[in-house]
Amino acid sequence: MAIVRWLASKLANKAISGLLLLAATAVYLIFLINGTNVFYEQGQFQLLETENEASVKTITRAKQITEANLIECRNEKEHFQQTNTTLRKKLEECERQHDAAGLSVEETNMLKHVREYMHSQRAFFEYVTAVLRDTPYPGIENYTRYSVARLGLMPIDGVQPLVPEFGVVVNDVTSFRYPISIPPCQEGNRSVFIAIISAPGNFNKREMIRQTWLNHLEDVHEERLLRVAGYGFVIGLTENNETQKAIEEESHLNGDIIQIEMSDFYRNLSLKVAGLLNWLNGNCFKVDFVLKVDDDVYVNVRNLVHFLEAHHPSNHSIFGLGAGNLFPARWGQWNITVEEWPWSQYPPYFFGPAVLIPGNTVLPLLAACQTTPMMPFDDVYLTGMCTEKAGITVLKSFNSTSVLAMGLPGIPTACHVHHYIAWTTVSGNHMNNSHASTNDFYRNETQCILPDESSGTNRTVDPTEFVHFSFY
Ligand SMILES: *[C@@H]1O[C@H](CO)[C@@H](O)[C@H](O)[C@H]1NC(C)=O
Ligand SMILES: *[C@@H]1O[C@H](CO)[C@@H](O)[C@H](O)[C@H]1NC(C)=O
Ligand SMILES: *[C@@H]1O[C@H](CO)[C@@H](O)[C@H](O)[C@H]1NC(C)=O
Ligand SMILES: *[C@@H]1O[C@H](CO)[C@@H](O)[C@H](O)[C@H]1NC(C)=O
Ligand SMILES: *[C@@H]1O[C@H](CO)[C@@H](O)[C@H](O)[C@H]1NC(C)=O
Ligand SMILES: *[C@@H]1O[C@H](CO)[C@@H](O)[C@H](O)[C@H]1NC(C)=O
Ligand SMILES: *[C@@H]1O[C@H](CO)[C@@H](O)[C@H](O)[C@H]1NC(C)=O
Ligand SMILES: *[C@@H]1O[C@H](CO)[C@@H](O)[C@H](O)[C@H]1NC(C)=O
Ligand SMILES: *[C@@H]1O[C@H](CO)[C@@H](O)[C@H](O)[C@H]1NC(C)=O
Ligand SMILES: *[C@@H]1O[C@H](CO)[C@@H](O)[C@H](O)[C@H]1NC(C)=O
Ligand SMILES: *[C@@H]1O[C@H](CO)[C@@H](O)[C@H](O)[C@H]1NC(C)=O
Repeated sequence: MAIVRWLASKLANKAISGLLLLAATAVYLIFLINGTNVFYEQGQFQLLETENEASVKTITRAKQITEANLIECRNEKEHFQQTNTTLRKKLEECERQHDAAGLSVEETNMLKHVREYMHSQRAFFEYVTAVLRDTPYPGIENYTRYSVARLGLMPIDGVQPLVPEFGVVVNDVTSFRYPISIPPCQEGNRSVFIAIISAPGNFNKREMIRQTWLNHLEDVHEERLLRVAGYGFVIGLTENNETQKAIEEESHLNGDIIQIEMSDFYRNLSLKVAGLLNWLNGNCFKVDFVLKVDDDVYVNVRNLVHFLEAHHPSNHSIFGLGAGNLFPARWGQWNITVEEWPWSQYPPYFFGPAVLIPGNTVLPLLAACQTTPMMPFDDVYLTGMCTEKAGITVLKSFNSTSVLAMGLPGIPTACHVHHYIAWTTVSGNHMNNSHASTNDFYRNETQCILPDESSGTNRTVDPTEFVHFSFY
């Protein structure tokens, strides 16, 4: 009841602005469908902002609150179907609240307007989604227009746009806080920062990495083959106080944790990537390359050195393994709803477990995150969409060598070690075996024998030979 009153008081004399917003949304989407760019013109946004700023914001907030109430009632209704007098009473109470008993006539009218607005907006979106369903992906600008309207996003005030040409700021990606952090990057030639995406509870995975390939990283740093500008495990917040305490101890002991102040939830990984980019932008902007890997990935540090020898970050490109299947899943773990993504395909993107990002693309990518509505899958979002927005080329591995391999056998062969910069593992044992295989190969205890096309015979690969990584 209190909420209804609050809502009604906020809406006094402003219900009309809800209809205005609806009309604006409709115009926006009709132009979207016709492929005409009108509404996203900055001028239009600003018109809406300056003339009706307060009312538009109020209506958006009111809409969220009312929707939350409706969902609550709907959930109660599901229980109610099992017929239970206790629940029946609760539901009746819930519905009475929406009837707004005790409100003035004026207040009741306000509420009615909001409901009508919401109802028509929902109907409208069902229509739009049906029209766009299974049409080709229309590019980042049209995606942005569609999603801004769908989510009712408002320009964020008081946030400095990183690249003003990228348009209206819709995500606040520059004010993350980091309860736990590490020192800024050290400068140097052929420098690399390694960001290992982890989850708060993954203590074992982090420890496995410290005991395996991070040792190799120290070796090559000491041999001056590359410059480790820094490395860190990137995690979000946990609601479990004991886990948090253990993380603080872990950080105290190892000094390699970056904690981003955000809920570390499934389908929130795009926000986490933005939190990482923002940290890098503030602490590591001069690094040559950032290697972003997941905490179940084994990194062949020698091949990372070969990559860094051959690739300079001057070329505004990021490097990874191209995803093969671009069809959005409508069921299963990686499903996305038709409303979230009506189109038939994702833009080309990299598989998420290992991506090489030049330091000089961090700022443009962060600026792209600032202006591109998020979607739940960070690999599609960052490497498929933000790269498009920022004009960054996506260079995919081909030929026998690769930035990333997936599905390698339990004990990778000498030739796997020779060919890949990183590969996914399925267990701690797999991580250990990968480390052992890597050590064996570089100590010349196992051999990789490859057919030699020029002579038609086989040749034994010298483990110290230069490995060339090809991209297209
Ligand atoms: C009705 O709901 C209450 C509380 O949820 C529960 O304890 C009770 O068993 C339910 N009664 C029936 C008949 O399902
Ligand atoms: C995307 O929007 C532009 C206008 O900004 C329009 O010209 C183009 O046709 C749209 N593309 C698709 C595939 O809808
Ligand atoms: C990096 O290398 C260039 C030339 O190879 C050299 O001039 C420069 O001093 C080096 N910088 C650092 C920080 O080592
Ligand atoms: C966790 O800590 C916070 C603040 O330190 C406290 O408010 C909360 O009750 C704690 N939760 C649990 C489950 O102990
Ligand atoms: C994502 O994180 C933000 C910031 O902590 C939070 O407000 C939001 O609820 C989270 N979303 C999900 C789906 O967990
Ligand atoms: C930059 O890209 C061009 C063409 O894509 C290529 O020829 C050149 O070798 C690249 N330079 C570096 C330093 O990677
Ligand atoms: C979509 O994914 C979510 C999260 O994994 C899951 O809870 C839900 O059941 C999935 N939906 C479908 C239709 O598979
Ligand atoms: C592909 O790889 C082979 C060896 O694995 C190499 O000889 C060849 O030059 C590569 N081709 C290109 C285009 O990089
Ligand atoms: C990995 O190897 C180390 C040392 O060889 C061993 O202590 C550890 O138990 C192994 N871990 C797993 C998960 O196999
Ligand atoms: C590596 O081992 C192979 C086979 O045992 C041997 O033929 C080769 O000479 C060794 N290479 C080096 C550099 O020790
Ligand atoms: C090259 O090695 C493969 C197995 O790795 C073998 O089947 C083939 O006979 C060898 N070819 C030559 C010319 O030795």
